[in-house]
Amino acid sequence: MQHLQQLVIEAIETSQFPETPTHLYDPIRYILTLGGKRVRPVLTLMAAELFGMQEMKEIIPAAKAVEFFHNFSLIHDDLMDKAPLRRGKTTVHEKWDANIAILSGDGLLVKAYEEISKCNPVYLPATLRILSKVAMEVCEGQQLDMDYESRTSLRMSEYLEMIRLKTSVLLGGALQLGAILSGANEQQQKLIYDFGENVGLAFQLQDDILDAYGDPDTFGKIVGGDIMINKKTFLLVKLMEVIEEEDFPLMQHLLNSTVDVVPTKVEDMLTLYDKYQVRKSADELKDSYTQCAFKKMEALDVPNERKAALILLANHLLVRQQ
Ligand code: IPE
Ligand code: IPE
Ligand code: MG
Ligand code: MG
Ligand code: MG
Repeated sequence: MQHLQQLVIEAIETSQFPETPTHLYDPIRYILTLGGKRVRPVLTLMAAELFGMQEMKEIIPAAKAVEFFHNFSLIHDDLMDKAPLRRGKTTVHEKWDANIAILSGDGLLVKAYEEISKCNPVYLPATLRILSKVAMEVCEGQQLDMDYESRTSLRMSEYLEMIRLKTSVLLGGALQLGAILSGANEQQQKLIYDFGENVGLAFQLQDDILDAYGDPDTFGKIVGGDIMINKKTFLLVKLMEVIEEEDFPLMQHLLNSTVDVVPTKVEDMLTLYDKYQVRKSADELKDSYTQCAFKKMEALDVPNERKAALILLANHLLVRQQ
């Protein structure tokens, strides 16, 4: 896994972009060298290995495409979420401005397609179809995420569909691309995609948990950022579902107040989260998605020893701290 991560880091960080216009290419270089876990491109390589591909050079363009796409989505996501911090550094729209974030994000999206076009031409229709499908679904998820910020009530099923779209499909798609490029059949592609989608749901639940409970020194984003903007995270949706009448006015008051008006908004909301043990519910659901992912993995028709690395990674992502 570390070897694959090294391959990915090298491929991403040695990518060449023109010098000018600097306001277009500097932010692209900036976001791509900020680090990050590189989970998705590693998944692409791991899926290829799982299905017997040995020549990683053939898979690198798809892995790069996935990470470029992810970084495009982060630049725009930070603008939409008004987030000042990403991977421990100033976000693109704060360091430069909103217009620059929009255009450099768009540029990275184009670069993602340029990379995927370098894949084995035999599989190009399939890889293009999957990347496009996933990309459009991420947009759908992001729009729902925005729409839901101002909603006063939200069903858990709506929240889960929103995170499936904004986050999980990309993890599933990253794996499926690796499977396609190593010649896996459609049934096997579907199983590895479903594994990724379930891991992705657990991944976003952990992301929601960390946003409220992460360690500010290692998290790399603003802890409490979701609470500040009334983001409909699992924790908030669950709280809205289980809160008793006596605490309802307090929750409403917090949701109607900015941190400028109520400086203790984050702590007060966390107190409610604790009282109703919503973190525990999140952990339980996370575990059940992970079990579901492992069932998909079991059903895959490849030798067990080849599955070990992906199982290890999935388990690791569940307890990640950043
Ligand atoms: C952040 O993804 C966006 C989500 C879908 C939660 P990561 O947590 O993978 O971010 P990096 O790439 O490691 O910074
Ligand atoms: C991320 O959701 C989804 C995408 C970037 C497409 P979040 O908004 O929760 O991600 P973070 O927490 O900013 O990384
Ligand atoms: Mg965000
Ligand atoms: Mg967001
Ligand atoms: Mg988040």
